[in-house]
Amino acid sequence: MKSALGCVLSALVASVCASSLRSLRHSPLHALRQTPPQLDYNLLPRAACDNTNKSRHCWGNYSIDTNYYDEGPDTGVTREYWLSIEEGPCEPDGYARQCQTVNGTVPGPTIIADWGDSLIIHVTNNLQSNGTAIHWHGLRQSGSNIYDGVPGITQCAIAIGQSMTYQFKVSQYGSTWYHSHFSLQYANGVFGGMIFHGPATSNYDEDLGHLFLSDWSHVDVFTRWFAARNGQPPALESGLINGTNKYDCSNSTTDPNCTGRGVKLTTVVEKGKKYRLRLVNAAIDGVFQFSIDKHKLKVIAADLVPIKPYSTSSLKLTEGQRYDVIFHANQAVDNYWIRAGWLNSCQPNEHPDSITSVLRYNVSSTLDPTTTSDVTLSTDCLDEPLSSLVPHLKIDVTNIQKSFDTYLNISKTNYVHWTINTSSLIIDWANPTLKQVFNGESLFPTDYNVLAVNKNTNDSEWIVLVIQDQSNLGLEHPIHLHGHDFWILDQSTGTFDASTSPNNFKTKNPPRRDVAALPGNGYLAIAFMPDNPGAWLCHCHIAWHASEGLSLEFLEREADIQADVSNSDLTQFNDICGNWSNSLGSQSFQQEDSGI
Ligand code: C2O
Repeated sequence: MKSALGCVLSALVASVCASSLRSLRHSPLHALRQTPPQLDYNLLPRAACDNTNKSRHCWGNYSIDTNYYDEGPDTGVTREYWLSIEEGPCEPDGYARQCQTVNGTVPGPTIIADWGDSLIIHVTNNLQSNGTAIHWHGLRQSGSNIYDGVPGITQCAIAIGQSMTYQFKVSQYGSTWYHSHFSLQYANGVFGGMIFHGPATSNYDEDLGHLFLSDWSHVDVFTRWFAARNGQPPALESGLINGTNKYDCSNSTTDPNCTGRGVKLTTVVEKGKKYRLRLVNAAIDGVFQFSIDKHKLKVIAADLVPIKPYSTSSLKLTEGQRYDVIFHANQAVDNYWIRAGWLNSCQPNEHPDSITSVLRYNVSSTLDPTTTSDVTLSTDCLDEPLSSLVPHLKIDVTNIQKSFDTYLNISKTNYVHWTINTSSLIIDWANPTLKQVFNGESLFPTDYNVLAVNKNTNDSEWIVLVIQDQSNLGLEHPIHLHGHDFWILDQSTGTFDASTSPNNFKTKNPPRRDVAALPGNGYLAIAFMPDNPGAWLCHCHIAWHASEGLSLEFLEREADIQADVSNSDLTQFNDICGNWSNSLGSQSFQQEDSGI
């Protein structure tokens, strides 16, 4: 006979359980015969359901329907990772140079956890001349702002030879990435994937993991800053998919660095199966329109937000964005090109069409694909249409408490500075905003671009940020907010009018994510809830533009920040700052940009 608890767990319809349920509830026997048992549902766990290739919406007692902003599993599991930020020779596409890497590879190791786990990640700076700090892109970091990994904002830079331990809870699921937030460092190779297992909005058989799409320079990116900062970002020589490509050296026979030893990534599939891919645009400066010849893509998540699946033959990603897609290996057994789809009209690359990899149905084939693409490349550098990006979990924007209407401009002093409300971001790696908060300072340096966000009541309320591009250059900017998903209220090529434009805001379950394009000469309006005390950066994810100061910083509920910081968090924070300051005299590295 089953135990009473077992009965409760094994669904209420099971009649064999009636007697023990009855005894649990002290119900009289005759009452049960006449009416079904009146159960107190509050006492019952939700039915557990397994996540299989036929039930990807399930996740134990949780599911794709769970409001993950409010609740989620607590697995009790802590996963620990060790990341060494280092430098050395590399030739990811068959062109030799020096790289900066995580654990010696580009991309670095993938951090894998389950929804509801805790992560402890030890980051050691084994570089020769730079500081570092690692940002976990897209993580809300509720209660752990101090581990957001932005030097000059949430921590001091980690000095050479020093380590910092980041700790946070995995309260989201899906695909994202981590990268250095120390100036241009990630563009030299300091990035990697993060996979948080959880439910999904569509079924698939196998998870192929990340596909990082990136542009790639043949010399150290820091050396290109001095040209880029005059307003003409250089056309880079190459691009990578998951850190590899085959650069054609036939025209560079006298260049000893062109080794020709690059290889294209190969992905092998089995006909009939459905595969999940986790796409990331990790470019310094470039928009991709991804596709796989002859295969449709079913899109199931935009950044860390599961969406209603939609089908497309190609998919645009701006810098920092992720999409999770499923493709069905239902074509003839053959080889097919996977195309990153560099949009050369957004930013030129010397080899825009060769950022490709190979899809093989037959593992033993060694032939290059001969397939052609039927995708027409886009002429703008914007996001997927907003109407395609419908969040599965519906949340409306109500009760707008405050709107920050800001204006993006450009000025040139010694180099190009992007300004937001006339100020361009420049931070000091030795003096993060949080340090100033912990010291009780209430006035912040102008070039920290601080906007104070508070919460008025206990009700749900919303903060709106409008960025109007007034620079008149017609360039798109992928805007990324730390510490939040944001709701996209409007993304328009027009001019924002504070009295009338809000009438057009889409507030009923608008797309939400953590990077969205600001249209050239237009505006982007986004909303978020002030539910996460901290100093949160909001910046353009084009690395050159971030270096040129295209950023502001929300200081959200300053008075509540310190309550989330434990003594040991604070001790480490101060140690990192002390070590950075002590090392400054011995370091050759000069801050030449905004610092982020
Ligand atoms: Cu991908 Cu400020 O981050």
